[in-house]
Amino acid sequence: QELQMNLEQIEKGGYDHFMLKEIYEQPSVIKDTYRGRLHANEGIVQMAGVEDNIEKFLNANRILIVACGTSWHAGLVAEYIFEEFTRIPVEVEYASEFRYRNPIINKNDVVIAISQSGETADTMAAIKLAKENGAFVFGVCNVVGSSISRESHAGAYTHAGPEIGVASTKAFTTQITVLTMIALRLGKAKGTLSNTDFHTFLQELEIIPEKVAEALETNERAKEIAAAFKDAPNCLYLGRGYNFPVALEGALKLKEISYIHAEGYPAAEMKHGPIALIDEQMPVIIIAPKQGHYDKIVSNIQEIKSRSGKIIAVVTKGDTQVRELADYVIEIPETSDALSPLITTIPLQLLSYHIAVMRGCNVDQPRNLAKSVTVE
Ligand code: G6P
Repeated sequence: QELQMNLEQIEKGGYDHFMLKEIYEQPSVIKDTYRGRLHANEGIVQMAGVEDNIEKFLNANRILIVACGTSWHAGLVAEYIFEEFTRIPVEVEYASEFRYRNPIINKNDVVIAISQSGETADTMAAIKLAKENGAFVFGVCNVVGSSISRESHAGAYTHAGPEIGVASTKAFTTQITVLTMIALRLGKAKGTLSNTDFHTFLQELEIIPEKVAEALETNERAKEIAAAFKDAPNCLYLGRGYNFPVALEGALKLKEISYIHAEGYPAAEMKHGPIALIDEQMPVIIIAPKQGHYDKIVSNIQEIKSRSGKIIAVVTKGDTQVRELADYVIEIPETSDALSPLITTIPLQLLSYHIAVMRGCNVDQPRNLAKSVTVE
């Protein structure tokens, strides 16, 4: 028993929980994920699985992304990135819905399956169906040799290393890294991304690990905010554009490990429902970086403030406008809009982590959840 305990302590590498260790591993695992694939100075981004099948990608009428849980959120981020960089229409589907609704799948569709474990039953069934219908299936998995990676025609691994915490963190950011690299490669080949933008994004992606490391410095701030809101019964997460899926993921993290009811919403949709919930008891976490719909977000914040909601805003370093309105701000380094999810998601992971710890929850193994769902 004691030996077992010591072993676990060693595995946690000095952190209290696997989840925290995995949050802190993100700068290095993002680097591991692009190493050998991204060469910003030479203007190269390549992955064997993509290069070998480049025609399939370039001729795709449509990209269909199938996934579950956090991987589905990475798919939503990818939808924004792919459409912007490649102008290929993208649909993101819950694998469980896709497989049972007689979906329209064509030979010229590329299906991307995203799965950390590579074992999720619904995602597996979705790709089998896609293959039966003649689509090309590309897997983005973390576990080498997993069922989904074997069942796919081709793929690109994330190099997050083993993820033990049930709530996914580093798998999410490394999935986004792989998907961004694919979109960059295709955008360049199609000419839908200008040469200048292509090079700027490569440079930007290469230094993202440093910015993620900087975002991790919000840990103490996240802890303070956690102490203020740990007893809230509900929580609302808002974001727009690339950061709308980050709002969904932020809410999911909080639900999973702290058991606080949380909802993620596109900020502008707030007025079509969730605004009715806002009162002085309601914490609203709003992702408001300088790039991307900033003015719109500011007016959303004003709407919350005039209804006495408590505002916790994730802002770009040096922001002044939101700071005046918000109850709490968390400052993150600046990056381009398209790459911002890799940064904005970090303080949200930390916030959920600290709230869960303060509530005495089992962070690494939350009740009722499994790391990998291999049955329906
Ligand atoms: C479970 C896990 C989640 C994960 C989801 C999809 O629900 O608890 O963290 O996002 O499955 O898993 P996958 O391995 O397919 O990414």
